[in-house]
Amino acid sequence: MKLRFLFIILILASTQTAFSSEFKEVEDSEIRFQWTVEGANLHIILSAPTEGWVAVGFNPSKVMKDADFKLAYVQGSTTVIEDHFGTGLFGHKIDSSIGGSSDFELINGTESSGVTTVEFTMPLNSGDDFDSPLQEGDEVKILLAYGTRDDLSRKHKKRTSIIIEL
Ligand code: HEM
Repeated sequence: MKLRFLFIILILASTQTAFSSEFKEVEDSEIRFQWTVEGANLHIILSAPTEGWVAVGFNPSKVMKDADFKLAYVQGSTTVIEDHFGTGLFGHKIDSSIGGSSDFELINGTESSGVTTVEFTMPLNSGDDFDSPLQEGDEVKILLAYGTRDDLSRKHKKRTSIIIEL
């Protein structure tokens, strides 16, 4: 009986260690991006001073083209998150409208005192042609932006691009 108890404690301890990695963080143009690799997933917390949308885009080829975007907004008690692809220098479309799929898992979304924060995980490599395959340790170009409306077709108020190491 005691042995079984010890075994359960050990399993719990190893699970804790596997997923208690620290977040790395960048902040620019008032947008904060925090990330950590958890196994085969990237865990992200994104926040900006807006009651509209926030978004991150991975690995554009030029401006916004070919980037894997995850866009989100909080409306009342609902958080909407969408997986998009940079179909042009200045445009993006939802993956599901161009033959791809929605690849992320929402953890939480809040809007408080004019700040929107969303937390989600996404596979490092979803296998979707419209997502950018990522690996821990990679140098990755990310685009960060926010808009002032709960409308993903409206342009950003602020945007920036940064190179990070995953
Ligand atoms: C309907 C949505 C969007 C429209 C119409 C749009 C439009 C544009 C336009 C016209 C530019 C050229 C420069 C400027 O005017 O600021 C631009 C640049 C940029 N956009 Fe967007 N954008 C949209 C969504 C997004 C999203 C969701 C993100 C990121 C997560 C983003 C990130 C950026 C960045 C970082 C640049 C600068 C890129 C560079 O200079 O290399 N945009 N966008």
